[in-house]
Amino acid sequence: MDKSKLAYFGGEKTVKKEFPWPVYSDKEKKLIVKVVESGEWGKSSNPDNYVAKFENAFASYIGVKHAVAMVNGSVALRLSLLALDVKPGDEVIVPPMTFIATASIVVEANCIPVFVDIDPRTYNIDPDKIESAITPRTRAIIPVHFGGHACEMDKIMAIAKRHKIAVIEDACHAHGAEYKGTKLGSIGDAGCFSFQSSKNLTCGEGGIAVTNDDALFEMIKSLHNCGRKTGREWYEHFNLGCNYRMTQFQAAILLCQMERLKEQTERRNENGLYLSELLKKVEGITPLRAGSEITLHSYHVYPFRYDKSKFHNLPKSKFALLLAAEGVPCFMGYPEPLYRQPVFKEKNFLSYAIPEYVNYSDVHCPECEKACYEEGMWISQNALLGTKKDMESFVMAIKKIQNEKVVF
Ligand SMILES: Cc1ncc(COP(=O)(O)O)c(C=O)c1O
Repeated sequence: MDKSKLAYFGGEKTVKKEFPWPVYSDKEKKLIVKVVESGEWGKSSNPDNYVAKFENAFASYIGVKHAVAMVNGSVALRLSLLALDVKPGDEVIVPPMTFIATASIVVEANCIPVFVDIDPRTYNIDPDKIESAITPRTRAIIPVHFGGHACEMDKIMAIAKRHKIAVIEDACHAHGAEYKGTKLGSIGDAGCFSFQSSKNLTCGEGGIAVTNDDALFEMIKSLHNCGRKTGREWYEHFNLGCNYRMTQFQAAILLCQMERLKEQTERRNENGLYLSELLKKVEGITPLRAGSEITLHSYHVYPFRYDKSKFHNLPKSKFALLLAAEGVPCFMGYPEPLYRQPVFKEKNFLSYAIPEYVNYSDVHCPECEKACYEEGMWISQNALLGTKKDMESFVMAIKKIQNEKVVF
């Protein structure tokens, strides 16, 4: 096999190692068997129930008073927003470069997502652009800690306080990550996490909402449990909730996975910083800024900016194909800002009560568009669980592509 030839065209791969995910041991298997044999498969009021144990363990890990585990991160976000008692037509500020749920759950609460552009240095919502998007109808901001990179929470919380609006942190990428020594998810009114398969803490599917606010907690808890209330009868339903409870199987897996989270987060953080040092020296690759306020980065993804002019004008989608073929677990990134997705452009909002005047076809967030269409891509979190040598091999793969003039 030709070593110098790109792997995509039949040459030898630069990175031969696999980076398995999820990581597990016999402990997960044994605990699942134990749940099967217990006959108690769902959440219950039994204090030994794994869901309750996991909620307590996660709340204390994040440093908050309360946690409600549920079916996924999207529902955690939606119930947190509903629990703020939002009204139809209220506005919620979100970034446009994120997973669909950050914005779609806003519509599912009969509210209007208002997109605010990202900062190209961090790919997070640009706090300096938030205030001009606030109107008398604004009820909340949902900052996304993209890839586990903490948003500028001091600025965001100050804006929220000034305008008396709530902050729900979308921490679905940010398990264990910190801003100025404080765990993400614990800074806003509520914080939401996902445990979907790719996430740094996973049980296949799942989510959790955390908060220090007692009233918000009681409402989120009620909404995820068919509108019931703590201490009241099983058949009394006070709020329009539904069954979004987590199973014991999910919680048992998560309890085992949590034992690895601290060490894994530290390893990803260390490798991410090392990779940035190396990539800084590669012309055409710009690592994102990780300032001193980011005391721990979870690198759910390792995003970077790609300049095709330094890669023989190879579009980022093609570059991502070549890099993946070289054995680097990577993705071309979100190909489009959320407001350009048909659901928003065409306002395919089912029966949700979004006013006629709302129109996403005029929205234009230039930094997000540049990131999606030209520059932004990422390496997956499992790759950052490798060694320093592995990080060096990723850089070698990038340089190998740079040194070839590829014609597709
Ligand atoms: C930023 C972000 N927010 C929300 C979610 C929703 O989480 P889930 O898939 O668990 O519903 C995800 C999941 O991919 C996400 O990446």
